[in-house]
Amino acid sequence: MDDDLKKPSENGSNLFEDLKRQLNDVFGSSTGKFNFMPMLVEGKPAAQGQETNKEEEEIHEFIEKIRAFNMKPREVKDYLDRFVIKQHEAKKVLAVAICDHYNHVKQSLNDKNTQDKEYSKQNVLLLGPTGVGKTYLIKNVAKLIGVPFVKVDATKFSETGYVGSDVDDMIRDLVKSANGNTEMAKFGIVFIDEIDKIATSSGIEGRDISGRGVQINLLKLMEDSDVSLFSQTDVMSQIKAAMSMGGDKKSTTINTKHILFIASGAFDKLTDIIKTRVGARSIGFNLQKSREVDDSYEFLKQASTADFIKFGFEPEFAGRLPVRVACEPLKANDLRDILASSEGSILKQYLDDFAGYNIELSVSDEAIAKIAELASEEKTGARGLLTILERLFRDFKFELPSTDIGKLEVTEACVDDPEAGLNKILGKWT
Ligand SMILES: Nc1ncnc2c1ncn2[C@@H]1O[C@H](COP(=O)(O)OP(=O)(O)OP(=O)(O)O)[C@@H](O)[C@H]1O
Ligand SMILES: [Mg+2]
Repeated sequence: MDDDLKKPSENGSNLFEDLKRQLNDVFGSSTGKFNFMPMLVEGKPAAQGQETNKEEEEIHEFIEKIRAFNMKPREVKDYLDRFVIKQHEAKKVLAVAICDHYNHVKQSLNDKNTQDKEYSKQNVLLLGPTGVGKTYLIKNVAKLIGVPFVKVDATKFSETGYVGSDVDDMIRDLVKSANGNTEMAKFGIVFIDEIDKIATSSGIEGRDISGRGVQINLLKLMEDSDVSLFSQTDVMSQIKAAMSMGGDKKSTTINTKHILFIASGAFDKLTDIIKTRVGARSIGFNLQKSREVDDSYEFLKQASTADFIKFGFEPEFAGRLPVRVACEPLKANDLRDILASSEGSILKQYLDDFAGYNIELSVSDEAIAKIAELASEEKTGARGLLTILERLFRDFKFELPSTDIGKLEVTEACVDDPEAGLNKILGKWT
């Protein structure tokens, strides 16, 4: 394709020039979406020149920040404590992994010798049920460090990328989340959710055949590989790749050496594998725990590489995720704490929603406890809070903004029977 593009066509120009002209005719800059010219013309238009300077400044600032990284694990954990309730072990493990990783990146940037040293990346595997804060932890870590972050679902990848996406897409997504800035993206964090769904053993939920292929592709990526910024299977991307040959001097690949990978999954079936392994040695423990609803945390904590291999991970793949930690299930008390004291509490969102209509919302402690209790019955972790709050506030949100009621005080009785609560407040109003 390269040669064809450069070959002179009959009228003396070349295919590349023709393609350029045609694309601009078709898409034009009028759509605002496709703007091929700045990449192609010699010398940049003034406005773009300014933008480039700004971008360079931004990159410079970012790299300086990484060079100056000096956070301590305790500091990272203290920050996470403000947002994430419980999960102390996960917070500790993450804090150490993050500090190790960015200290190593910093050393590589500052010292050429470090670059040549062998280094095993501290990629992390988080295990645990839905809604306990796995994604939330990583989002907050990325926010604290100030690096680009992307969350992807392992289920959407296939070995070839022809059906579904290929694993390299996650790196391109990271570049997108860094506004196309590869210099920043190469120090980012990729969070791969539902990693347990690419296990290969038959009987494990999810796809089976291509799971091994995805794991193999993924493990290369997790270590150190160059990823093209242009997808092989995306036509638009191919056109852009062709255009970039015409003058854009920027790199067309991104290296993954300094990207931190954090994977997570519920690993339900893994619990059974561990139970079988440790069962014989801990019968007393099992009997003692047997009446409890969910003891999977106690087992997931003990997961070994052999368990992951039995579960359906290739040994090399399991080896690329050396830092493993299980997240605890959340009890009603924890859900209450999330509502009452997490800085990112979903309740704050509701306060803002009502404030948008000049309604002051207040929720009593007893009402909070009741909401938490109902949410824990949902068995979806903190996600249960969303369900209960949505159900509780649905009609209030619909009716109250059209009244001149300026205050909504939610009591336990109101949580028990929102309809009655609403009628009471509307009755007072009319
Ligand atoms: N431990 C926690 N502390 C505070 N808030 C939490 C906690 N766990 C969950 N939340 C809240 O619940 C929301 C959903 O949690 P999150 O996305 O982290 O779940 P998850 O563990 O990744 O679950 P899934 O396996 O379903 O992806 C978060 O955005 C956050 O608001
Ligand atoms: Mg998640």
